[in-house]
Amino acid sequence: MTRTDAAGPDGAVRAWRGLADTSVLLDGFHAIKHALRFDARVPVALTGDRAGALALADELAPDVRAALDALLVEVPEERLRALVPRLHPTAMAALAVRPSRAANLEALARMPRPAPVVVLDDPRNLGNAGAVIRLAAGFGATGVVTTGTLDPWHPTVVRGGAGLHFATAVERMEVTELPPGPVFALDAEGVDIRGLKLPDDAVLAFGSERSGLSAALRERADHLVSLPMRPQVSSYNLATSVGMALFHWSAGRPPGLEA
Ligand SMILES: C[S@@+](CC[C@H](N)C(=O)[O-])C[C@H]1O[C@@H](n2cnc3c(N)ncnc32)[C@H](O)[C@@H]1O
Repeated sequence: MTRTDAAGPDGAVRAWRGLADTSVLLDGFHAIKHALRFDARVPVALTGDRAGALALADELAPDVRAALDALLVEVPEERLRALVPRLHPTAMAALAVRPSRAANLEALARMPRPAPVVVLDDPRNLGNAGAVIRLAAGFGATGVVTTGTLDPWHPTVVRGGAGLHFATAVERMEVTELPPGPVFALDAEGVDIRGLKLPDDAVLAFGSERSGLSAALRERADHLVSLPMRPQVSSYNLATSVGMALFHWSAGRPPGLEA
């Protein structure tokens, strides 16, 4: 069969070029695996080594092997390198369709809510935002909202999130538009979180790396909550703070409710 059809390398590279500007780049095996597990629409996936990619799936993620087998098109590695900023060591990349903002906003607004929404108030560090999305996905949080200028779908955030943007609702919003639910804003000056049970419909808000919570977020907060921290330590890293707060929420629930 000639390889200039849509499923062959030339067609797949053409499809990639047509979609790249409007799609989410999934960089490497783990990002593609997670996106497939959480029902992302992945119109094109390329690899420099199809047999190696499928062997990795056999070893690490047999649940997505059939989907990968159907999707992955092998192209010479130098062609793949020309399409991505930096080729992942697993020599795989894919493009996914970004979920609609309307669908995400609806998921974030839906009540009753089974798990909190995380708000990052004007975050600055793309790696932190990615790590938070990964945490939110792991804990089954309803979503991650960012305020301010950082794009939570920036390729570096998506890389940090390991493809898990598709497992939770990720959107940017204004403080005035935050989803419903009691706002628990995390701040070292707040009341000790250990004395509180965080409700499932909580909106858990965290300040920016440099300046903490904005005045607008403080104004909107129903509770100011602190994580235990020894005197003379100024603060925790943003993503670790989110991890502790989500763990505290989950510890108040019976085991087995993660799904
Ligand atoms: C790196 S800290 C910000 C430090 C910043 N200099 C400040 O004045 O708050 C980023 C965010 O993590 C959360 N955080 C860090 N340590 C915390 C603690 N001990 N208790 C509650 N939240 C904390 C807060 O939401 C904070 O705004």
